This record gives sequence, structure tokens and C-alpha cells, in this order.
Amino acid sequence: MERALKVSGLSLEEVDIIAYSAGPGLPPPLIFTANFAIQLSSEYEKKLIPVNHCCAHLEIGKLKTRAKDPIFVYLSGGNTQIIAFVEGKYRIFGETLDIPIGNCLDVVAREMNLPMPGGPEIEKIAKGKYVELPYVVKGMDVSFSGIQTACLKLLKKGVSKEDVAYSLQETCFAMLTEVAERALAHTGKKEVLLVGGVAANKRLQEMMNIMCKERGAKMYVVPQKYAADNGVNIAWTGILAYKSNWEDPKILRNKINSKWRIDEVNITWI
Ligand code: FE2
Repeated sequence: MERALKVSGLSLEEVDIIAYSAGPGLPPPLIFTANFAIQLSSEYEKKLIPVNHCCAHLEIGKLKTRAKDPIFVYLSGGNTQIIAFVEGKYRIFGETLDIPIGNCLDVVAREMNLPMPGGPEIEKIAKGKYVELPYVVKGMDVSFSGIQTACLKLLKKGVSKEDVAYSLQETCFAMLTEVAERALAHTGKKEVLLVGGVAANKRLQEMMNIMCKERGAKMYVVPQKYAADNGVNIAWTGILAYKSNWEDPKILRNKINSKWRIDEVNITWI
């Protein structure tokens, strides 16, 4: 916080609101952050705004790309969801039934002794030939745990890292592109916006771009600086909430909600 104030040249007295990430996530860091934010807000008498972590990833993506009303493909180490704003809420059209995509990439990368985070390392070596992996799309949902296990088995059998990395990317990204395409078709929207840390993957962008072009839609990617977790997306979403007189008695009372789903967020700014 000290560094942020220094860079912006502001003092806390000049700040209007204190926004913090209130969930979803692991309770210990959520509680730690909430306590810090609560202490600041009472000490400096600033309005306190709990922000939904997923919502912040979507809002910073819209701000930075100027996408207006996209299908969000939200892919990170902790989340995998296809989301769109429909009838007053961000609604989840599809999601992972088990592990998030980023987690799947990390586990396979670790087995290959690649540095963490594993996603970018998998991308670097994904230049092999295709080895068949399970392709798991159920309705609008996806599953990565079987693919992860299959990759670990292939590595044990002596299949090259390059082949496994290539096949893993091709399979998982094809599944996500399929679900995103159906969300586009269902909602009639004309934009796709990739957010979250995995959005930086060039092969994912390429596959989504081809799909979008075929459907006459436009694809956007959140700038890398704002793709992974950051304070700016929380602050920006806090501003949107504050300016639109947002309130939610439950989260304001409980301070955090480790399972706060985006479709439960009261959206007052759209
Ligand atoms: Fe995140």
C-alpha cells in the first residue's frame, strides 16, 4: 500500500474508498486482507467496499479493452468459467466441474520439472505431435482432472514433454473454445473477452480468434499487466460499485465469503 501511494503521489486522506477482495478464495488471506481494509477504513473514515474477485477480473478486462458486452472466458489458476451479463447479472454459462485450467497446467508442468507458474512453460515447449487425450465437455461444462491424470501417465510411459504439452494445450483449449462458441450462439453476443492469467496463452488466443472470426465476433484479451491478480482490478470494481450506490447487506455484514459466486453479486453499475 505504501508503494502504491508513493507511485500515485497520493496520501490516504485523498483516497475516497477502501476496496478489498472479499472472495471467492481461501479464507486465511481473505480474512487478513479484510481486517486490514476494515482497519484502514475506520481509521481514515473511508467507505469500505468488499469486491468480488471474479467480477474484478471481468471489469478490468472491459475497461482496458473497451469491450462492451462480451462473453467472458475467465481462465486462471483458481477459476475456469464462461460468463456473460444477461438480465441484470453476470451469469455462468459453463465452468469446470473439477480443477481449474491453470491448476491442471501447473500440475503437469511440475511433473515435467518445469518452473512455476507452469502455464507459460508448457506453452514454450508445446511443439510436439498430438497424442490422444480425453476430451471432456459435458453440456456447457468442462473437466480437466481426467486429462491431467492421462498426461501424467503419458509422461511415466516415456512420451516426450513436447508431445504431452502440445496435446494438453490443444485438447483443453479446444474444449474451452467449443463452450465459448456455444455461449456466443446462445446469447447472440458479438464479443469474446479473455481474462485471468491463462488469457496470455498465444495458442488459446489463436483458437478463440479463429472461432470468433467464423462467427463474425470480435475477440479481446486483457493486457498481460492486468491479467493475473492485481490491486487495480479490485480498486476499479470498487469505484464502479461506489459510484452506483452498490450495497449488499450480507457481504457487508460477513466481510468475506470464500465461496462468493459471481452470479450472486449485486450488479448496480451496468
Ligand atoms: Fe484471480
